[in-house]
Amino acid sequence: MAYQIPLFKLNFDEQEIQAVTETIQSRWISTGPMCEELESVFRNDFQVLDAVSVANCTDALHLACILCGIGVGDEVLCPSLTFAASVNCVRYVGAIPVFCDIKSIDHINISAEEIEKKITYRTKAIVVVHMAGFPAEMDTIVNLAQKYNLKIIEDACHAPLSEYKGKKLGTIGDVGCFSFFSNKNVSAGEGGMLITNNEKMAKRARLLRSHGMTTMSFERASGHATSYDIVELGYNFRMDDIRASIVIAQMRKLYNDLLMRSKVRSKYIEGLSDLKDIIIPFEDNKEFVSNYIMPIVLRDSTRDKRDAIRSMLHSLGIQTSVHYPAIHRFSLYQTQKNNLPLTEYVSDNEITLPMYASLTDEEIKYICMSLKNVLTNYEIRG
Ligand SMILES: Cc1ncc(COP(=O)(O)O)c(C=O)c1O
Repeated sequence: MAYQIPLFKLNFDEQEIQAVTETIQSRWISTGPMCEELESVFRNDFQVLDAVSVANCTDALHLACILCGIGVGDEVLCPSLTFAASVNCVRYVGAIPVFCDIKSIDHINISAEEIEKKITYRTKAIVVVHMAGFPAEMDTIVNLAQKYNLKIIEDACHAPLSEYKGKKLGTIGDVGCFSFFSNKNVSAGEGGMLITNNEKMAKRARLLRSHGMTTMSFERASGHATSYDIVELGYNFRMDDIRASIVIAQMRKLYNDLLMRSKVRSKYIEGLSDLKDIIIPFEDNKEFVSNYIMPIVLRDSTRDKRDAIRSMLHSLGIQTSVHYPAIHRFSLYQTQKNNLPLTEYVSDNEITLPMYASLTDEEIKYICMSLKNVLTNYEIRG
């Protein structure tokens, strides 16, 4: 079924088409000058020492774990209210994810207090996810990392150009990871970026993303190298130039896109202000953020109620989603005992409303009105 109002709309136009056409016409389509240009865009926009393009954010997170020296038997603190990739990456290197609850129902990011409680002699790192683009409690988390000698991996998939006290998210920890999956603020179908201020980590990331080879095909094709050595066991985590050229076009639009999303969020907050049955996470946030998604949480609710409300919204043509089914409740992760009441509450009672730059005032009004009506109908029917 095609929804009247989808959850997300691509911000694509002639610019992306032209970018792809030019890359194809250049006759170089795998990792090459477009990936290099995109990396330089990230270095500039994020004011960071280096940026390494990769095939997706999952690869960036996997690399981040390797670069942070995480290995077999180490523990890594991470949220459960996230996408699987933020946690699976810990498993890829043989380490153990230790789930931490979120701070509150208003602040649905990993709690610094929980982090401190769960640190053991085995803890090596913290994976921080900035939900919906809103910053986690980075000052406290950075202090804890320094105190206990831990690395910080920022999964900034939701947060391109989001800020925390004047710093861009993704640049505060040791490594920052971004995704260009189709529903992200910056879309290219697939793609990812790893950023860091650590020169050694950046060099190693470049090696590991392409089989540990000391030169890339493009360098050889353009006469800058004639052979290569393999110095480490690496992977094929490379991005290609076709996607990189789309991401460059998307990065040019990003700031304006985010300004429009901020307006969409303000309209939502206005439209939902008299709804006492819901909480809008991060409602008081004053930072500039990406507004990747528009999450709301039902108050004093249950999973059945949330699912019923979602179905009613769907029948009115409004697509919604859930961010996220908690990772610790998936079969793969049920082996550990966890006590994460706030995560479970949000996982059961969150609804993600449509969010994109071109969402109109009328559409926002329609969504807010529909939500009010379905909540009222649910209460009446009992
Ligand atoms: C929080 C988070 N982390 C990681 C990922 C993985 O990104 P990718 O699909 O580029 O591997 C996603 C993407 O959905 C995400 O939302």
